[in-house]
Amino acid sequence: MKKLSAALLLLSTAAIAQPYDNALTEEAIQKRLAPIGEVYLAGADSAAEAAPTGPRSGEQVYQAACFACHGTGALGAPKSADDWVPRLAKGKDVLLDHAINGFNAMPPRGTCMNCSDDEIAAAIDFMTAK
Ligand code: HEC
Repeated sequence: MKKLSAALLLLSTAAIAQPYDNALTEEAIQKRLAPIGEVYLAGADSAAEAAPTGPRSGEQVYQAACFACHGTGALGAPKSADDWVPRLAKGKDVLLDHAINGFNAMPPRGTCMNCSDDEIAAAIDFMTAK
């Protein structure tokens, strides 16, 4: 009896677990086979177009991309205001160039490959002003 009720339970949960659009219709199958990240073509209808995102703030970029190293000092990344003093002496243009193109263990764009030059500059300003 125990075995039977266990089997029944299994069957019923399996039936419940089926997603609603699990039908074998052409449309449902196409939907399941669609690539996860679709290519966005300019001019095409898309959610991204409906909700344009402005440039991220220096703080947002810093938190998302730079903090891993610059918030912890990992790999010798400058962290404190004292660390930044000799670097700021190089001039902001040099720092921006090194942040964009990489510098020793500092990876290009601090790994934020979709950051614009302006967003990188804002992140440097935020980081060095702390
Ligand atoms: C994987 C770790 C890592 C990440 C992530 C990272 N950095 Fe760095 N960064 C470093 C290290 C290490 C140095 C020191 C390099 C050296 O002086 O040899 C450095 C140095 C710098 C410098 C000084 C360059 C110079 O000429 O002295 C700037 C500016 C900088 N990073 C900006 C950024 C910005 C902006 C971000 C985020 C968008 C970022 N970094 C993310 C590791 C990182």
